[in-house]
Parts: sequence; structure tokens; C-alpha cells
Amino acid sequence: MPDITVHEAIFTTRAMRHLKSDPVPKADLEYLIEAATMAPSAGNLQMWAFVVVTDAGQRQRIADLHREIGNKYIRDTILADPETDDDRRRVYTRAMHNVENLNEAPVIIVACLTMPCPDVAGIASGFFGSIFPAAQNLLLAARSRGLGGVLITLGSDYAPFLPEQNPGIGEILNLPTDVKAVALIPVGYPKGVWDRPWREPWQDCVHWDQWSDS
Ligand SMILES: Cc1cc2nc3c(=O)[nH]c(=O)nc-3n(C[C@H](O)[C@H](O)[C@H](O)COP(=O)(O)O)c2cc1C
Repeated sequence: MPDITVHEAIFTTRAMRHLKSDPVPKADLEYLIEAATMAPSAGNLQMWAFVVVTDAGQRQRIADLHREIGNKYIRDTILADPETDDDRRRVYTRAMHNVENLNEAPVIIVACLTMPCPDVAGIASGFFGSIFPAAQNLLLAARSRGLGGVLITLGSDYAPFLPEQNPGIGEILNLPTDVKAVALIPVGYPKGVWDRPWREPWQDCVHWDQWSDS
């Protein structure tokens, strides 16, 4: 059973982008999905499904798709823009590791919405907001099993720069037309170390009773 505290899991789980190729036991993958489904969802509709991809050919197809989108969006747009500031450049330079090496992860879990998100302001939050808590549960559960990963939206059905050369994620995974991929989560044993992620001081984003400038 997990031997880290909730506190440790929350305060040390960061985007683990460099993963070993060692396989992950199926029982651990089942635990991650079960943990994901403990998350809340809008109306408790549980409008999620998870495609757990371990097959090398399937991982390669997803990696090719993600590389095509990531090269356009991150490499050729964000990183090519001289206006991109250093902090953003650092984060996206890290993300390029996944753009170039997504298939090094032994598992890619694709978190899906089982109903397409309507293009209606005010409703989208309930749809996407029903997937991301589950994804974070999954990542915390992974952390408790010594596994790492990162949530990636590029390559999903809601990404910018949908592919021209490669099949979309729905085609690769044979998703029914109503099922839409929201996030790709590569999972594996970390090459990096766990550490408190860098965040702005929490005191700078909290306001008590009403918004104040101090
Ligand atoms: C909604 C969402 C979308 C994200 N999409 C991507 C993505 O497309 N590609 C990527 O490499 N990382 C993506 N990330 C990961 C973030 O870049 C990462 O969580 C952030 O930089 C903090 O990393 P840290 O916890 O290591 O500090 C996404 C994270 C969230 C929450």
C-alpha cells in the first residue's frame, strides 16, 4: 500500500517528464484508474473514460500525433516568438521533451469525455472540470506507487493545430464519435527526483473576504 502521506503527495508531485521505459504492473494501472474515478464530477455524471495504452505501435502513433502538434504550437509558435518571456520559455522547453519523446513512456493514459463538450460559455467548465480532478487523482495515485507522469492537452481533441499529416487521437484509439480525448497522461517510473514544484508564493494569490491590492 502507499507509504507516503497525502501532504507529501500533494507537495512533491510535479510534472515528471523524463520516464524510464520499464513496464508498469497492470494492478498499478488499475489502481490509478480506480483512483481517478473517485474524483468529483459535475452532477456526479462521471462523464469520463480512460484508454490505457501500453501497445508500442499505439504509443508510437500517439507520439507522432503529439509531435506534429507540439512542433507547430510549442516549437514553431511559442518558442519561435522573441516576445516569449524566459519563464514561459523554460516551461515550454521542458514540454518539448515530451513532444520529442512521448513514446518513451511505457504507458499513455488518455482521459476522455464521454460526451463532447458543447461550445457554450459557462458549460465547458463543468465538462473539462469533470476530467481534470480525475487526472490529478490519477497523478497523485501514481506518485504513491512510485510512478510519475504529466498531464498533456496538446494532442487531445481540443488542442490547437489539429493534425494534417497524422490521424487524430479519436482515429488512433477508435473512439466512438461522442467520446472526445481531453488529456494524454504519459506514466512510468521517473528518471527525475520528486521535489516541491516551483510556484508563486500562495500569499500572492489569496484574498480574504474581498479582493484587495495589498
Ligand atoms: C490543463 C493543463 C494542460 C497542460 N497541457 C500540457 C501540454 O499540452 N503539454 C505539456 O507538456 N504539459 C502540459 N501541462 C503540464 C504543465 O506544463 C505543468 O503542469 C506545469 O508546467 C507545472 O509543472 P510542475 O508541476 O513540474 O512545476 C498541462 C497542465 C495542465 C494543468
